[in-house]
Amino acid sequence: MALNFPIYLDNQATTPLDPRVLKAMTPYLGEKFGNPHSTSHRFGWEAAAAIDVARGKIANLIGAEAREIFFLSGATEANNLAIKGLAETYSGKKSRIITVSTEHKCVLESCLACEKWGFETTFLGVGKDGLVDLSDLEKTLDESVALVSVMAVNNEIGVIQPLGEIGKLCRAKGILFHCDAAQAFGKIPLDVAAMKIDLMSLSGHKIYGPKGIGALYIKKSVKRLLTPQMSGGGQEGGLRSGTLPPALCVGFGVAAAIAGDEMSAEAARMKAVFRGFLQTLENSGINFRVNGPVERRWHGNLSITFPEIDGDLLLSALKKIAVSSGAACASATEGPSYVLGALGVPEKAAKGTIRVGFGRFTTGDEAEYAAGYIAETVKRFKG
Ligand SMILES: Cc1ncc(COP(=O)(O)O)c(C=O)c1O
Repeated sequence: MALNFPIYLDNQATTPLDPRVLKAMTPYLGEKFGNPHSTSHRFGWEAAAAIDVARGKIANLIGAEAREIFFLSGATEANNLAIKGLAETYSGKKSRIITVSTEHKCVLESCLACEKWGFETTFLGVGKDGLVDLSDLEKTLDESVALVSVMAVNNEIGVIQPLGEIGKLCRAKGILFHCDAAQAFGKIPLDVAAMKIDLMSLSGHKIYGPKGIGALYIKKSVKRLLTPQMSGGGQEGGLRSGTLPPALCVGFGVAAAIAGDEMSAEAARMKAVFRGFLQTLENSGINFRVNGPVERRWHGNLSITFPEIDGDLLLSALKKIAVSSGAACASATEGPSYVLGALGVPEKAAKGTIRVGFGRFTTGDEAEYAAGYIAETVKRFKG
């Protein structure tokens, strides 16, 4: 099959809108324009009803109830609300937050911002595999801790954290557990009850839905413990003021339903695409290393280090494919990746690293072509 260039391989940064999602959204960008918070006429009711259907679809995918899903602008806002909302409530009563050094910046920065409410953050380290050590975590848990925040799937290296075990440790000590599931939702099975998760952050644009929409799952009994971080009309149960965007909510809901229906088939296909890519790279004979475990990961995510190569130069030479050096959001701050640093990857090697992100629309042919093309380019650089 003919390939179209450039081949998009940055599906952790964002995913293209699935045409089925766009179709479901379109009426809400046109004739169904009502404000979902208008309670006195059909226009408002229609929009509100569509949003509630979407809420149910999202809840369904994580074993939650529809009323436990709160819409907001994305996982960044969800992480901010979960962490800061809880810390503000617990100000003066608790004094510590536990998180992991490989979390997304919006989690790390939100934790640090809680200093103004008297909180101190403990950043747990990870092993070479990117996994948090459960006994290290357990040692930090005491009555001064308000919250533990650990992500599900890492955005740079794809490793899957042991959520069920973390949830169990937290619940046993009566400590709340927040999980940033932006890269995991719709890709791996998540169950907030079985995993004992109290707060979970979700994003629309990582699952072939629209940008600008996300959700925070808030366990029923935990809602009263969050202080809103946005003042206004008291929408979303008073927790997140602002008019909801029906088209985006509907799109997010449909994207979640599709991801749920196709999850196991897609995970198996991703694994095959990942293996095909790696095999081609191995066959080429170039020197490279995969960051993070090969099995315990989301197989749509592959961070590869080429020890003898400058990653920035490599990226600029790879014109036929769209890959990145790591987190899209970190590119504004440059510098080698703190996630790879936490894994013990030396700074020089971290600089020779690229992230290849496969997605729903990546074919096996595209992945294998990309692997051959990367290998060829690396060989050319070595001269
Ligand atoms: C792990 C993780 N958390 C949070 C975010 C932020 O998500 P959003 O773009 O929906 O704000 C991202 C996206 O880059 C992410 O990968």
